[in-house]
Amino acid sequence: MSVIKEDIIFIMGVSGVGKSTIGNILSKSLNIPFFDGDDYHPESNVLKMSQGQPLNDDDRIGWLKTLNKLAINQSKNKGCIIVCSALKEFYRDILTVNIQNNSKWVFLHGSFNQITDRINNREGHFMSSDLLKSQFDILEEPKNAIKIDISLTPNKILEVIKKELLKKSEFGLFGLGVMGKSISRNLANKGFDISLFNRHVDGLEEDVAITFKNEFEELSTALPFSDIESFVNSLETPRKIMLMVNAGKIVDYVIEDLLPFLSKGDILIDGGNSNYHKTKERFDYLKSKNIHFIGAGVSGGEEGALKGPSIMPGGSKEEYKYIQPFLEAIAAKDDNNLPCCTHIGTEGSGHFVKMVHNGIEYVEMQLLAEIYTILTKQGNNPNQIATILESWQNTANSYLLEITIDILRKKEGDDWLVNKIMDKAGNKGTGNWTTITTAQLGIPSTMIASALFARYISFYKDERVAADHKFKSDFEAKLNLNNDDLLGAYQFARIINHYQGFRLINQASVSYDWDLNLSELSRIWTNGCIIKSDLMVELVTVFKTTNNLLTSDVIVEKIKSLKPSIKKVVSECVLNELAIPNLSESINFLNSFAVADSSANVIQAQRDYFGAHTYQRKNDESKKFYHTNWKNN
Ligand code: 6PG
Repeated sequence: MSVIKEDIIFIMGVSGVGKSTIGNILSKSLNIPFFDGDDYHPESNVLKMSQGQPLNDDDRIGWLKTLNKLAINQSKNKGCIIVCSALKEFYRDILTVNIQNNSKWVFLHGSFNQITDRINNREGHFMSSDLLKSQFDILEEPKNAIKIDISLTPNKILEVIKKELLKKSEFGLFGLGVMGKSISRNLANKGFDISLFNRHVDGLEEDVAITFKNEFEELSTALPFSDIESFVNSLETPRKIMLMVNAGKIVDYVIEDLLPFLSKGDILIDGGNSNYHKTKERFDYLKSKNIHFIGAGVSGGEEGALKGPSIMPGGSKEEYKYIQPFLEAIAAKDDNNLPCCTHIGTEGSGHFVKMVHNGIEYVEMQLLAEIYTILTKQGNNPNQIATILESWQNTANSYLLEITIDILRKKEGDDWLVNKIMDKAGNKGTGNWTTITTAQLGIPSTMIASALFARYISFYKDERVAADHKFKSDFEAKLNLNNDDLLGAYQFARIINHYQGFRLINQASVSYDWDLNLSELSRIWTNGCIIKSDLMVELVTVFKTTNNLLTSDVIVEKIKSLKPSIKKVVSECVLNELAIPNLSESINFLNSFAVADSSANVIQAQRDYFGAHTYQRKNDESKKFYHTNWKNN
């Protein structure tokens, strides 16, 4: 907990626990006003109490509302201390209406006998044990209060309260969408003291942080905020704030909102799917303001974020050390119980690898969709396809295979749900960026581009329906393929996908001088993330000796043994007019790549013909450039 201006500190407990004494000394020590709730009772209550009659709920409600008004007014100034028995939860709810976010509770706690003795020992005071007992009977202990034993001396009590009130959170979470909420709960479950922030938008996002905090037991000590300054001030320095907001312009707005309250050395972590170029820009911008910036890819969806995501932080290694204990504690664990989180490299490297992760993810998804197309064409219903895919788990298991099996089994009424889903695939941009980047860096990650374009084609639903009619023939598909052919083709294409994705990452590592470790990267992708798979586990070892999968003997042997299957599957599908862009791209890539003499000589000649772009000759080791006057034979 931390005390900040505008805070209202309620000190509660049964009569005789010493609330006023403590309230007074705390008020002097913190230099904020003190109000004794007893001074605000209406005359009717005072009369009742003086006659030794306990107050009931109806007697108290008006009084509590008066105190709430007082608290609201004070919250607009310096804040204050209010002492009040506040024995029931609903009394406390009335007291904190509209000020839940800045109310702090101190609960002075003692036994019945202890308090009776205490009161009766005070000169001129007497309290009937019946009256005290009636208070104990209705007391509902607060969950989120600083609970203090009244046997301590007042000075000691003051010390404990101040220590607790001034205690700061270790880590801040900004943005409580689906992922932000899961990460927060994950952090709290690991025992971290956290502060939570969500903006206030009238009618749309109201009391998000406090409502969320109250929903989950593990968040009982978390501090909820909708005011940026208070949120920032509740954090230990250097502050560590993880932004879980949508990628794009909003990240810049949030940075600008936070900046006035941050101090030198604070660390912002962007946990969204941000573009790596923007991450580099933000890194440089914040550096000029003495604020550190870590761009962290986070994979695993809602469940992964809660139970253990794969985390890819990029930025300065020194600053990473400050956030390492938090990120590594919440990350998934690999087979050796090591965290699926590691410092990736400098600048935007964390977001870069997350972007390529998503590109690989697009292909893995597309391949399963293509297999579904083929198996459907062969007359299998979704449940039968799920059974076939289940048999693949022994040799080619992956998270995406697992969820596809679940998806295919899901029924709604008499039909499978998958049959009812509109066949237009969406995307949020990371596949698009990967495709642009692979082109920019000169790496042929053809499968990622093809998986992206397959989604784009799917989006032309109306045109596809029209074209289906236009191009219809009485052609009948007859696929001569068995389960082994399909499994082999699927495994082949997945290897090429991983080759292309990691090749792109390796190129970025060279071009940007990031010194990325592909074995370590594949290790943190063995759990927690969407592309975790048995193949990924194998790659951890393969990448220990090479950065290029197609130079690994083990991989080459696998590809050779799987090649007949992919050739057969692709040929059959093409002959039967089935769309399998990713499967066919995989074998086309290998056919283009594993060939000593390609057709690029013709391209070079054409370029030289119309543009005098020159060409080199095969037999000329000087690598000299030639130009030919092609028209004069
Ligand atoms: C992950 C996912 C996650 C998100 C994708 C969806 O690793 O947890 O990749 O980041 O689900 O970005 O991307 P599309 O909407 O582009 O398919």
